[in-house]
Amino acid sequence: MSPVLCVLWIATLAHTVLAGNVCSRPRDIPLATADTFGKQVYSPGEEVTYSCNPGYVPQSGSRRYTCPWSGKWPVVTLRCIPKKCSFPGPIQNGKIEFMDLSYQSVVNVSCNPGYILKGPRSIQCLADGQWSAKLPECHSVICAPPPVSEFGALSYRRLKPGNISVFRDVILFECLSPLALFGNETAECLATGNWSAIPECKSVECSYPKEIENGLINFAVRRTYRYKDTVSYRCNLPYVLEGNVESRCEKTGQWSPKPICRAPCEMPIKRATVLYNNQKVKVQDHLRDGIKHGETIWFFCKNKEQHCSYTVPAQCIDGNLTAPACFKERGWFSSLVKTDVASLTPCENVD
Ligand SMILES: *[C@@H]1O[C@H](CO)[C@@H](O)[C@H](O)[C@H]1NC(C)=O
Ligand SMILES: *[C@@H]1O[C@H](CO)[C@@H](O)[C@H](O)[C@H]1NC(C)=O
Ligand SMILES: *[C@@H]1O[C@H](CO)[C@@H](O)[C@H](O)[C@H]1NC(C)=O
Ligand SMILES: *[C@@H]1O[C@H](CO)[C@@H](O)[C@H](O)[C@H]1NC(C)=O
Ligand SMILES: *[C@@H]1O[C@H](CO)[C@@H](O)[C@H](O)[C@H]1NC(C)=O
Repeated sequence: MSPVLCVLWIATLAHTVLAGNVCSRPRDIPLATADTFGKQVYSPGEEVTYSCNPGYVPQSGSRRYTCPWSGKWPVVTLRCIPKKCSFPGPIQNGKIEFMDLSYQSVVNVSCNPGYILKGPRSIQCLADGQWSAKLPECHSVICAPPPVSEFGALSYRRLKPGNISVFRDVILFECLSPLALFGNETAECLATGNWSAIPECKSVECSYPKEIENGLINFAVRRTYRYKDTVSYRCNLPYVLEGNVESRCEKTGQWSPKPICRAPCEMPIKRATVLYNNQKVKVQDHLRDGIKHGETIWFFCKNKEQHCSYTVPAQCIDGNLTAPACFKERGWFSSLVKTDVASLTPCENVD
């Protein structure tokens, strides 16, 4: 290198070192601010520190940078991300809607039907990582006591302890005796805060109860019969009562179904030995008056091939009793000379 060139080179170098290049105002980066305090020019060696804006936190990169001799700030690597608020839920009887839980996000709160929001409809995540307000609550709708006068015919009671009724609570109505309740016996506290339909109490009368065939009403008195009054029936002997002994005056003003007296049965044959209450009896001696409704007798029939006897039941149904087809009634004369079927060996015992 020639001396001239060398001098020139040193001079250039000296100029650079002594005068130096200065850094201009540090560049802005998204979501962060540098602590310039209005400073426009930085000499080499001076520092600048970036901070994330309120509501944001550093994720990666370096915050501090030094102005180099070149006068060109290095690339700023700091990355800031929004702060997160903690999950504000859960909420009872309602729902929480949100896209995100970070700074500036809004959470919407709504209540299920029958519940009322107490508090703000939405809350926002603030710069300090806290929610703008406490999470609101969903309080149940309250139904006012139903319009029932204290000593009126209609009264009610709650099915749950306590003196207020909330959504879905049920109350049970009653009418002062002998009034009859018309409508639904229960009412439910609805989401609107109203009760479902409330019943009515009305007076009901039934006319004097009708007699029944072959029977009578016990201790019947000619009087006014009201709702829930009952009368009882009985049958003339030997009729048999079928159905409910009692009949009740219903809300409709009608009596509930009356019992029926079922007729006894005459014997369909004059002479035979039959099984009655597990005993062999002669119809002509013991069953001349017949049997009652519902009773059963067993007839003896003959198996001719095996010369044995078997029994077939016949039941008395309301005056109707039929001897089985296999049964042969013997005349007075044959009963003297032939063996009674009933005294043959029972067929089960024949080999
Ligand atoms: C919250 O409610 C507002 C206003 O009704 C609506 O614009 C927004 O989309 C809702 N946000 C969410 C996450 O549902
Ligand atoms: C309900 O009951 C509570 C105590 O159980 C009582 O303090 C309150 O006064 C009652 N409210 C009404 C309206 O009767
Ligand atoms: C009576 O009301 C209750 C609700 O309060 C309902 O669940 C029920 O089905 C109703 N019964 C009748 C017979 O309408
Ligand atoms: C509920 O009650 C209010 C009065 O208290 C009445 O205006 C409204 O129509 C009722 N709603 C229903 C569904 O019955
Ligand atoms: C009596 O019973 C017979 C045979 O079971 C039947 O055909 C007849 O209809 C019954 N009669 C009455 C009055 O029930």
